[in-house]
Amino acid sequence: MTEAEVTDDVAVRLDPLADTDIGWITAACQDPEIQRWTVVDLRPVGMIAIHTFDAKTGVADIGYWVAPWGRRQGIARGAIKLLIEEIRGIAGAGAVQARIAITNTASRRTVESCAFTLVEVSSTLTCPDGTNTVAAAVYGLNL
Ligand SMILES: CC(C)(COP(=O)(O)OP(=O)(O)OC[C@H]1O[C@@H](n2cnc3c(N)ncnc32)[C@H](O)[C@@H]1OP(=O)(O)O)[C@@H](O)C(=O)NCCC(=O)NCCS
Repeated sequence: MTEAEVTDDVAVRLDPLADTDIGWITAACQDPEIQRWTVVDLRPVGMIAIHTFDAKTGVADIGYWVAPWGRRQGIARGAIKLLIEEIRGIAGAGAVQARIAITNTASRRTVESCAFTLVEVSSTLTCPDGTNTVAAAVYGLNL
């Protein structure tokens, strides 16, 4: 939160956004002028999580998805990078891993853009591809 600044006799203050701001922002964005002149999209766009954390190996296995309306804007890449920073804060964490269907080009390109490298195409781990089951491409990033 900044100190109040007075500009041209108007007191203006900049505050960081918080979850509690969603209500008044949503109400404000019903305004036709805001909808006419700005791009307003307050919908959540996705999920990212640590599926498992192996305390013995220090490997955190992550998963994620982005809703169709949020794709190809760098959202997954940004979220993965933020989660990596969170994982760095876990005691004993040494690496981040993503298991991805070998046929899932979008997800493989996404982790590659976050500096993950292909560790192996597993002969034992599998992932769903619709109703099929395909081999998992295991990607890793050392912390
Ligand atoms: C995979 C997924 C999470 C990517 O999310 P996203 O927010 O669209 O990805 P980003 O915009 O952050 O893309 C990051 C990089 O991956 C590339 N990429 C993303 N989608 C791509 C696609 N469909 N085809 C090729 N490359 C793709 C982008 O080009 C980008 O690299 P860039 O710098 O060259 O543009 C999203 O498509 C999704 O939710 N898919 C369905 C669920 C899923 O597959 N989850 C992962 C399971 S392992």
